[in-house]
Amino acid sequence: MTLTVLAPAKINLTLEILGTRADGFHELRSVMQAISLHDSLTFEDAPGEGIIVMGGSPDAPPDESNLVYRAAKALSEQSAGEFGARIALRKRIPVGAGLGGGSSDAAATLVALNKLWRLGLPKHRLMEIGASLGSDVPFFLTGGTAMAEGRGEVVTEIEQPAPIWIVVVWPGLKLATPQVYRRYDEEVVNFPGKDNLTAQMVLALAGSSLEGIGLHLHNDLEPAAFALATPVRLAKERLLDAAVVAASMSGSGSSVFGLVRDEAHANLIADRMRPAGYWMSVCQTVCLPFEGEI
Ligand code: C5P
Repeated sequence: MTLTVLAPAKINLTLEILGTRADGFHELRSVMQAISLHDSLTFEDAPGEGIIVMGGSPDAPPDESNLVYRAAKALSEQSAGEFGARIALRKRIPVGAGLGGGSSDAAATLVALNKLWRLGLPKHRLMEIGASLGSDVPFFLTGGTAMAEGRGEVVTEIEQPAPIWIVVVWPGLKLATPQVYRRYDEEVVNFPGKDNLTAQMVLALAGSSLEGIGLHLHNDLEPAAFALATPVRLAKERLLDAAVVAASMSGSGSSVFGLVRDEAHANLIADRMRPAGYWMSVCQTVCLPFEGEI
């Protein structure tokens, strides 16, 4: 039996850092949104063969470091048995771009193998295993639009806005999440977050006005990422110059995104950005279950 799953990327409509934690992570508040840009994974049951990952990319090689492998391994340890799977990973989501590709691949793996191996683990158990793999994995088990708190693993679904067109721009360099957080810590004087910009975004999403949503885009990690990599700042500035409704960085970077009015506006922005030579994706926000999602 084989299963194919599309694993969506995400953007952060807000990302507020509320403080540091005893475990070394940062306390967050964020609105996360799944988008139609996706990786694809095909799972084939292979009892007794162990876990074999194929495909991937130079930045996400199909070895034991890949979150797909680690998710499959963690799941196989939940129950005695000669579990095995052949997993083909087709990457489209840039790696080290703040788009959550590895986390989404891991979440897709947990859901697909839970089904293929007939483990019957409930969602809260998958959420726990997901959180042990990475802070963003639980979001992808919920998907759509959600608020993430804690270190990112406490996920509350919020009502889906109507689909929004976006242009994702990746300046072609990777940013390591721990490095961006370290830079943030070096520069922060006191933690913001008092205005609860995330709560304001949740209200703006319910209002469904694109301008209202755009007004509340916010990412506390932008100054740190911009200080580490000028091309990220330039990419955001170029999106604003190209006349998107609003723009922000996703996660810890290095990608940025612009909100646009419709598909024609998205294509116009992409045309205006093309001379800069960026990797780009014209896509939409998505609800889950996403196409191909199980
Ligand atoms: O959980 P994840 O593997 O995505 O985290 C990668 C790194 O990002 C952590 O080791 C930590 O340095 C940083 N991080 C953080 N606070 C968070 C999430 C991530 O400091 N809430």
